[in-house]
Amino acid sequence: MIRKLPPTASVADPQESGKLHAPAAARNADAICAVLLQHAPATGRALEIASGTGQHVVVFARALPGLHWQPTEIDPARRISIDAHVTEAGLANVAPVRHLDASAPDWHADSGPYDLIVLVNLLHLISDAEGRQVLNGVAAALAPGGVFVLYGPFKRSGELISEGDRRFDAELRGADPLIGYKDDLEVAGWLGNSGLEPAHCVGMPANNLALVARKPA
Ligand SMILES: C[S@@+](CC[C@H](N)C(=O)[O-])C[C@H]1O[C@@H](n2cnc3c(N)ncnc32)[C@H](O)[C@@H]1O
Repeated sequence: MIRKLPPTASVADPQESGKLHAPAAARNADAICAVLLQHAPATGRALEIASGTGQHVVVFARALPGLHWQPTEIDPARRISIDAHVTEAGLANVAPVRHLDASAPDWHADSGPYDLIVLVNLLHLISDAEGRQVLNGVAAALAPGGVFVLYGPFKRSGELISEGDRRFDAELRGADPLIGYKDDLEVAGWLGNSGLEPAHCVGMPANNLALVARKPA
């Protein structure tokens, strides 16, 4: 399901040919890509959950051409945008977008296994229960030895660490009391409970984190 969000949470402006442009995705794509270049396998199958506008998968697929990328999205308008961005980029290593509701039980059942799964800026927009569900699905969909890269804003040891983070978290909870920032240590615990091994926690621009986890080989 798509939860009710404040207007600040998932901004994407219309462009030509069905494309959408998210300013946040333009800002953080290179930093996330640098994490992928360091930790992702060079070849195999990659799944992106909640691909948004499609700006990210274009950057990631160009930088990691040995991976075959599967973008996914729950929102039909964004699925149109993803295919439009990919078509314009002329990338042969990106499949047509698929519908995926990552909070649905067993979303992973009809696809995979994947050598890499990437999830950017979704966990704070869903409930704790849905977040755990997403991570359980990731663990099931990864191949042994596969890598999961999870990016977003997080509390640190239970604390919101800046005025901007406190404001954004309050806006999220005002729209839906079940959503909001997750805690970095709690999410590391969810990863462990799902069967993944948390491997790296990388500080990212604008107070965000990239958590890298691996499925045991
Ligand atoms: C803040 S945007 C991030 C998009 C993209 N990952 C990025 O960083 O540009 C959140 C995205 O999650 C999608 N989304 C919301 N709920 C979802 C769910 N249950 N399963 C999959 N995607 C979902 C939204 O449609 C939106 O595209």
